[in-house]
Amino acid sequence: MVTPLILDCDPGHDDALAILLAVADPAVDLLAVTTVAGNQTVDKCTVNARRVLSLAGVSEVPVARGADRPLVRRLRIADDVHGTTGLDGPAFTGEPSVPESPHSAHELLVDVLRSRPATIVATGALTNVARLLAEEPSLARNITEIVWMGGSTDRGNIAPLAEANACVDPEAADLVVRSGVPFTMCGLNVTHQALVTDDVLARLERIGTPLARVCGEWMTFFASTYRDLFGFEAPPLHDPVAVARVIDPAIVHCVEANLVIETKGEWTAGATVVDLDGYTGRPPNARIALTLDREAFWNRVVTAITALG
Ligand code: RIB
Ligand code: CA
Repeated sequence: MVTPLILDCDPGHDDALAILLAVADPAVDLLAVTTVAGNQTVDKCTVNARRVLSLAGVSEVPVARGADRPLVRRLRIADDVHGTTGLDGPAFTGEPSVPESPHSAHELLVDVLRSRPATIVATGALTNVARLLAEEPSLARNITEIVWMGGSTDRGNIAPLAEANACVDPEAADLVVRSGVPFTMCGLNVTHQALVTDDVLARLERIGTPLARVCGEWMTFFASTYRDLFGFEAPPLHDPVAVARVIDPAIVHCVEANLVIETKGEWTAGATVVDLDGYTGRPPNARIALTLDREAFWNRVVTAITALG
């Protein structure tokens, strides 16, 4: 069975590989890419999404620009991790060949979901998805599931207890989690199992195509910022983990638990409070990813990049 998919993202190095995985893996049918401000401004993230699809030679997937800021907070970008372009590493000149859709992300999401059910994979702040659910609540029934790279069962990466995608727009994440649409969280606790180690870089190099070379250069840049900022020996490839969960749920093992998003805390806004031990007595409302089948994951990523030629 092929799962129809919409990818809402803020490319971003790991988002770039999430796009490639979603576009090339035969288990999913990528219907649209929508962008949101996060790793960089939405202008830059939109150019980057177009760039990734252009490099992959994919022109039939529309790319639409989404929210340029969180629902209520000021935008906080991650140029320290992703650079001034949002996708630093290889230098590109000129415009990507894939055009931007004349429709906004909101219009495109409405259009797609009016015509058919689809799964949304979100790999940035949940601003676009929250707005969709707030303004078009009847479309919730056509969202099969929302699979989000965001949050953490443990500590954060932008604040002590908050992961970046959650912390950029906690109000949006709160609205989406409370919407009742089936929700899966792939947080740092699982994406930190997807490290781009030297053997992964070697596999990319062995592919030998121009696209694989660009991926290698992106990963080399990403590795340098993760080393300098966080002391990681190899960077975690967060976003493709959420796509992999849709491709084959066995790759990303989840449990059901209650999840709430902290929006009021003076020091903890954006914390994802996951009640794995049943302390609160609140019923499960989300699937929480805990473990990654690393071998199956990297096989899918490498196969996808190879297939794109
Ligand atoms: O915290 C990791 C997440 O923040 C990833 O989605 C990365 O691309 C950034 O958006
Ligand atoms: Ca992202």
